[in-house]
Amino acid sequence: MTNKTSETFHGITFPGHLHTQDSLHYATHFKFQDTDTLIVTYPKSGTTWMQEIVTVMSCKGDAVRAQTQPNWNRAPWLEQYYCPDVLNASQENRILTTHLPYNLLAAVIYVARNPKDVAVSYYYFHKMAKFLPESGTFSEFLSAFLEGTVHYGSWFDHVKGWTNNARNIHNFLYVTYEEMSRTLRASLERVSEFLQCPLVEEELTSTLKSCSFSSMKKNCMVNYSLIPQEIMDHRKSKFMRKGKIGDWVNTFSEEQSCTFDAIYTSRMADSSLTFVWCNP
Ligand code: A3P
Repeated sequence: MTNKTSETFHGITFPGHLHTQDSLHYATHFKFQDTDTLIVTYPKSGTTWMQEIVTVMSCKGDAVRAQTQPNWNRAPWLEQYYCPDVLNASQENRILTTHLPYNLLAAVIYVARNPKDVAVSYYYFHKMAKFLPESGTFSEFLSAFLEGTVHYGSWFDHVKGWTNNARNIHNFLYVTYEEMSRTLRASLERVSEFLQCPLVEEELTSTLKSCSFSSMKKNCMVNYSLIPQEIMDHRKSKFMRKGKIGDWVNTFSEEQSCTFDAIYTSRMADSSLTFVWCNP
């Protein structure tokens, strides 16, 4: 862990306690193996959820690994400083995670979520994660989110960058948080087919159970309760906070929503996808 509060790389800031110039360079020059799976998200879009799904699924529905090994150890973030040490201890079928922009190649699972829900989740995450800058009021945070000056950069650039360039990635699965929330079983079937990891009914059912919000909220290997309070203060907000779609309505004002929609329309005009949250 480093003491710097923020690290800037290619014009994007990253939390300094987990990232260094060396670790970011390592990630962007990483040599993937054919058997690697890379989970990609903008923060607060369902990263932890997909890490749990892929872990339990690759154990054929057996939850022991997910219950005994922290998620950052079984699906490490490529760009975080401890990644080389974790990977030294693992061989094949590695599960990797990243919040980096799209110019990386591997078998990729990209998870996207309604940016209004991302903004609210990210705002509450700033309250509890002491390694992130002060969020200010929600209105101040929302302005920074829309301007793309928050850590990990602009949501618009991240989602468009990855989804518009997906055709250049030979093995790419696009999943939304909304789809997982509405029909988790169908999402698990898509992930299992993509990973070429067929599951019998019983294995699928136990994967479904392990990856429910209530199971993950209780699992200390994934709910971040193992992290000391000085780094993540769960009294301020839980990591597994609400786990809902459309909860943004409880935080956004009417005016904030209209401003957001106008910026969204102009920033996403050159997107190649129509997103599920545009057709609720
Ligand atoms: P909320 O803050 O809206 O509750 P990430 O893992 O990318 O940081 O995303 C965290 C968000 O995903 C949080 O959203 C968290 O509650 C939600 N999440 C994690 N696991 C989930 C699950 N099994 N079902 C629904 N939401 C989940």
